[in-house]
Amino acid sequence: MGSVNREAFEEYPEVGFLRDELTGLPILNSVLEQVDFHLQRRDQVGFLYFDVVQFHLLKETYGREISEALLEESGQALARLRGRLFRDRDLVAVGGRGTDYFVIFLFSPPRHKASFSQSDLKMVSCRVVQKLTNLINEKAASLGVKEKIDFHSGYTVIVHDPETPVERLVYEAQKEAALQSDLDEVLVTFVSNLTHELRTPLTCIKGYAETLLEGALEDRDLARRWLQVISEEAERLERLINDLLDVSMMEAQQVEFHFEPTDLLLLAQRTAEVLMPHASKSGVTLAVRGTDALPLIQGDRDRLNQVLLNLVDNAVKYSPPGSEVILRLGLGAPGWVFLEVLDRGTGIPASQLPRIFERFYRIEKGRGARHGGRGLGLSIAKRIAEAHGGDLSVESQMGSGSVFRLDLPVRGPFIEEGRDEED
Ligand SMILES: Nc1ncnc2c1ncn2[C@@H]1O[C@H](COP(=O)(O)OP(=O)(O)OP(=O)(O)O)[C@@H](O)[C@H]1O
Ligand SMILES: [Mg+2]
Repeated sequence: MGSVNREAFEEYPEVGFLRDELTGLPILNSVLEQVDFHLQRRDQVGFLYFDVVQFHLLKETYGREISEALLEESGQALARLRGRLFRDRDLVAVGGRGTDYFVIFLFSPPRHKASFSQSDLKMVSCRVVQKLTNLINEKAASLGVKEKIDFHSGYTVIVHDPETPVERLVYEAQKEAALQSDLDEVLVTFVSNLTHELRTPLTCIKGYAETLLEGALEDRDLARRWLQVISEEAERLERLINDLLDVSMMEAQQVEFHFEPTDLLLLAQRTAEVLMPHASKSGVTLAVRGTDALPLIQGDRDRLNQVLLNLVDNAVKYSPPGSEVILRLGLGAPGWVFLEVLDRGTGIPASQLPRIFERFYRIEKGRGARHGGRGLGLSIAKRIAEAHGGDLSVESQMGSGSVFRLDLPVRGPFIEEGRDEED
């Protein structure tokens, strides 16, 4: 059982860990018999999972002794909550040496109910997290820890399945609960980013409208200028909302793509023409280098256009005056074409590269704000590339520029049909 609160769990002597053969990840060996026992008698067992956020950082900063004392405190706190937040007999908690997580199995659903609902589990999970957070933070403060300690939590239902060994069921539940706790975090960040993005233009609209109402309306020239600002900000809001809708529809696979034979070189040339005036305002030139040998591809022209506009717009935004942005097209692996957008701009730090395709992700707030970016363009572009059966990737060097590369299969996302006849 390791360092965590041996006494509280002594009625479950075989607490320990099995490793999953495939992944090498620990599975919760300790309670498999119990879970098995209950799954023979009912359809479901509730599964709740808690882990200490960034426990490894605590360990690095405060050392092993303190961090393990904190884990032990959490284990004891959990034991003290038995019979209060959940029925005594329903709890089996697990933690182990070097592990920073706890698990609760709820063997029976709340009174009067035949099965668990997500909200039953969520309620218990929230209350446990609340209590654990308070208790562990009191202890942490008394040990001189300055940071606030938080818990991730996740929950899921383990459903009886005679075909699947109980080890696998528990392991899958653990994986799913951990994944879900990550998703909750993504959602929270998403909503807070969204609120910020919506608030900025709204504050602006409200401010100008109020000043106009307070009397500035009398000055016709001024009034016209400010109404102009209001209208621009409203347009910005509209674009933001449309783009957001786009991302979420694409994520839900609800966007229809219209595939037709498409000349990628032509699309690139058009994009360059459209953005030329914009680029020359920042002193940047655009060039298209392609080959006539490029085959037509199965693509959605409007959507591909959207990708190119964003890639070139980005490249121009982050390029110094006097430099060149190049759109380079060519043949990739057999059956594939590529389009690269190269710039000699600021570049992107290696540590940020994997993240720039996330919604709302911008390298630094100041940078984005100066350019009015919202961090949506690349996430949309990536989804569009994937919907074509292709991919969007990036390589970059700080200070010397970036290359965004769109790889597309000539035949689009379709599985080849009629191959057998050909063979
Ligand atoms: N060519 C580039 N050079 C340097 N940084 C880039 C480049 N392209 C993108 N980035 C970084 O990636 C971030 C995300 O780009 P993305 O296109 O998604 O958003 P954006 O351009 O800020 O806003 P918008 O939603 O209007 O496109 C940018 O804010 C920028 O920090
Ligand atoms: Mg962009």
